[in-house]
Amino acid sequence: MSCCGGKPCGNAAGSVSAATNAPVSADATRESVKDYYGKVLAKSDDLKTNACTTDSGMPAKVKAVFPLLSDEVVAKYYGCGIVVPELLEGCSVLDLGCGAGRDCFIISKLVGEKGRVVGVDMTEEQLEVANRNIDFHTKAFGLAAPNVEFRKGYIEKLDECDLADNSFDVIVSNCVINLSPDKDAVLREAYRVLKPGGELYFSDVYADRRVPQELVADPVLFGECLSGALYWNDFLTIARKHGFADPRLVSDARITINNKAIEEKVGHIKFYSATYRLFKHADLETDCEDYGEAVIYKGTIPTYPRAFTLDAHHTFDAGRVVPVCRNTLRMVLETRLAPHFEVLGAGAQHFGIFEGCGKAVPFASAKGDPAAAAVGGKKKSAGGCC
Ligand SMILES: C[S@@+](CC[C@H](N)C(=O)[O-])C[C@H]1O[C@@H](n2cnc3c(N)ncnc32)[C@H](O)[C@@H]1O
Repeated sequence: MSCCGGKPCGNAAGSVSAATNAPVSADATRESVKDYYGKVLAKSDDLKTNACTTDSGMPAKVKAVFPLLSDEVVAKYYGCGIVVPELLEGCSVLDLGCGAGRDCFIISKLVGEKGRVVGVDMTEEQLEVANRNIDFHTKAFGLAAPNVEFRKGYIEKLDECDLADNSFDVIVSNCVINLSPDKDAVLREAYRVLKPGGELYFSDVYADRRVPQELVADPVLFGECLSGALYWNDFLTIARKHGFADPRLVSDARITINNKAIEEKVGHIKFYSATYRLFKHADLETDCEDYGEAVIYKGTIPTYPRAFTLDAHHTFDAGRVVPVCRNTLRMVLETRLAPHFEVLGAGAQHFGIFEGCGKAVPFASAKGDPAAAAVGGKKKSAGGCC
C-alpha cells in the first residue's frame, strides 16, 4: 500500500537516479572501474572489503570442477556468489563482466562439448588473463576444441559485441551490475539476448536504501562493489520494466565489510550480496495468480535426486505434490526445467491471488473473511511463493 495516498514519493535528497546509481559521467565511471580491476587490483586478496568474494554454499557440481582450474584464474576472482544454475549441459551461456574468466571456465566444463560460453568484459588486463587460459582449460576438461570465448565490450552495449537477439539459454553475472553506470541498459540488453524461456541467473550487491551521491562518487567504495549497489526495490522495478516480470531471489547474505574506515563511511547503510534468477517469459505476471495447479518434481535433475530448489521460497521434494502459482508453473514447465516436472490440475479456472504470496485482497469489506486473511499471508502453504 502506498504511503502517500497514491502520489509518487520521490527520491531522497542527495541520492542518485535508480537506473544509474553511478557518478555523473558514464565514461568516467567505466574508466575508473577499468583502472581498479586492470591496474589497482592484482588478485582477490587486494580487495579492501569482503563485498566481492562472499561465496558460500558451493554445490557439488561446482566443487568438482575447482581442482581443474588454473591458479592464475582462481587468484583473480572478484565475484560475490555462485552463478552456476542447474542443467547447463548443451546450453549457450553469456557471462556479463566475466573478469579473468573463473565462472566462464567452470561453466565451460558443465555445458560440455555441445554448449558454448561467451564472456564479455571491458577491462583489457582481465581479458588477457582469461584468453591465455583457454587452452589450459580446454585440455583440463578433455574438450576437443575450445567452447569458450571472450569479447571486449560493455555490458550495456551487447549489440556492439555482435550478440544477437534471443541467442542465449542462460546469462550469468557475478558482482558486476553494481559497477555499471547504466543498470537500466544492462537489464534491457540481457532481456534482448536471452532466448524465450531463458534466464538471467546472477549475484550482485544490493543496499537496503538508496545510496547518497557523495558515497557513489567515492572511487574506492564504488570499485569495491558497495556504493554502486542498487537499493533492492529499485532493482526489482528496473527488472520488471524490462520484462523480467517476476524476479526470484535464490539466496542472500549480509556483507560485513570488515574494514573500519569503510564501515564508518557507509554509516547505517546495510549491504547484501544476493543471487536472483530472472526468467524471460512473455506470459509471466507481476503477481502470483492461483489457477488451482500443482507440480511434482520427478527427482531427475542430476545431483538433486531428493529435492530441487528453484528459489528461496520453493524447494520441491521429489515425488511431493506442491501447489504453485501460475508464474512458478511456467518457470518449471516452460523452461529447460520442464522434463523434470509433472503438472496436476487443468488450470482452466482462476481462484484469485495465490495464497501466501504476501499480497492481500485490497477491499476493506473483505476484512474478517477467512479467504482474505489467508491471502494476506497469515496462513503458510508449501507452495507460498513470495
Ligand atoms: C568485481 S569484478 C567481477 C569479475 C568476475 N565476474 C569475477 O567473478 O571474478 C567486475 C568486473 O566487471 C567488469 N565491468 C564492470 N563494469 C563493466 C561494464 N560496464 N562493461 C563491461 N565490463 C564491466 C570489470 O572490468 C571487472 O572485470
